[in-house]
Amino acid sequence: MTMKTRSFLTILSLLSITLSLAIASDPSPLQDFCIGVNTPANGVFVNGKFCKDPKLATADDFFFSGLDKAKNTESSPVGSNVTTANVDQIPGLNTLGISLVRIDYGVNGQNPPHIHPRATEMLVVEKGTLFVGFVSSFPENRLFNKTLNKGDVFVFPQGLIHFQFNVGKTPAAAFSALSSQSPGVVLIANTVFGSKPPIDPNFLARAFQLDPKVVMDLQTKF
Ligand SMILES: *[C@@H]1O[C@H](CO)[C@@H](O)[C@H](O)[C@H]1NC(C)=O
Ligand SMILES: *[C@@H]1O[C@H](CO)[C@@H](O)[C@H](O)[C@H]1NC(C)=O
Repeated sequence: MTMKTRSFLTILSLLSITLSLAIASDPSPLQDFCIGVNTPANGVFVNGKFCKDPKLATADDFFFSGLDKAKNTESSPVGSNVTTANVDQIPGLNTLGISLVRIDYGVNGQNPPHIHPRATEMLVVEKGTLFVGFVSSFPENRLFNKTLNKGDVFVFPQGLIHFQFNVGKTPAAAFSALSSQSPGVVLIANTVFGSKPPIDPNFLARAFQLDPKVVMDLQTKF
């Protein structure tokens, strides 16, 4: 066996050990930072996005302002509004496996059942009272719920359906940290009843054990 083959095999076995351990975040960045840019004009490395030349990096690439501002919840059909601070707003987050959101809830407002396909979420209540929960996967489908007040923290595991309702008498606000630069959102109702083109209502009627007319009505709303 040549030296080269041996070190290749060592790397291969290290790799398989690494892969068999739980990988709990976005892949390792492999460099200090990789500020995402959309064109290679000022870029050098390629890693999903092009990385900005590190010599051209500035503090502003890692900066975002305005998470103190409550957003309007009146025009939302579910009475909430989310402000995101992810790689789309903060290019310096590229490859770092973390992001933030602020969520504002009107009275009776809710963040409807949804999934983050790429992130676990850790929510902290800034003001108000929220009833929150997530449901474990099939076949157990167990609801884990809690009523949260200011300063309370709750965890929503990656990929599970979760929600928050404002059950207090005042508007509420929360911040969440998410374990991805780009957590993604799958809103259950919008995805199932609002797909383009629509899923056959007769098929959905059977799936949800509903009258096809109810499904068609839902499809006009999402
Ligand atoms: C969220 O709030 C912003 C500004 O406060 C507003 O422009 C936007 O329409 C709101 N979005 C929803 C879904 O209500
Ligand atoms: C919330 O969870 C508790 C168990 O911790 C359960 O007894 C209760 O019924 C749940 N509440 C709702 C509204 O689902």
